Amino acid sequence: MNRFTWHGHATVSIETSGHSLLIDPFLKDNPVSVTDPESLSPDFVLITHGHEDHVADAADIIRRSGAQLISTPEITGWFARQGIDNSHAMNIGGFSEFPFGRLKLTPAWHSNSLPDGSYGGMPTGLLLELNGQRVYHAGDTALFSDMELIGEGGLDLAFLPIGSNFTMGPEEALRAVQLLRPGTVVPIHYNTFPPIRQDAAAFKASCEAETAARCLVPEPGESFGI
Ligand code: NI
Ligand code: MN
Repeated sequence: MNRFTWHGHATVSIETSGHSLLIDPFLKDNPVSVTDPESLSPDFVLITHGHEDHVADAADIIRRSGAQLISTPEITGWFARQGIDNSHAMNIGGFSEFPFGRLKLTPAWHSNSLPDGSYGGMPTGLLLELNGQRVYHAGDTALFSDMELIGEGGLDLAFLPIGSNFTMGPEEALRAVQLLRPGTVVPIHYNTFPPIRQDAAAFKASCEAETAARCLVPEPGESFGI
């Protein structure tokens, strides 16, 4: 059993076998988040790409908690220039082993730069193996047919953006569920700002009518176990 908390937007906490992971922390300036960043003390911070709405609170949380940063070399290098050097750099490709399980960075169709305009390299998604479960966080991405490959080993849970405008919208996310075939899907990256306003209940209804996946729609700050 793993425990997940969605904090709004793409920010997700995971508690697994005595380890805590935090993905894409965007809390303090996130209009929908109810989580105080000071309340989080992760062991690992995972960053899918360098946009402000994915790295905003990362440096503060890493400095305070001593968490290890995991991301691509361009992202870990940018944090290193701010004095954060407890990091593990990797790139899209194969699995790497960590104390919490295994992680593979997957492709994502998006753009990537850091808040100061620095080059961000390739944006990514995350495929995690935790406690015998496979969890996919798509990051910011358009729909792509290689999602079928990401789902091949079986997926217990997929976090998929549905906001449209910057990422997949609900129609593309529904196709993504058909390709990935996860047991459970959680929509993310919507309702944070007016351009990505979406009806998550409608997405859940079409997802459960047209695919075999269960769709969970947590409130920001809500936790669930899988
Ligand atoms: Ni982005
Ligand atoms: Mn984003």
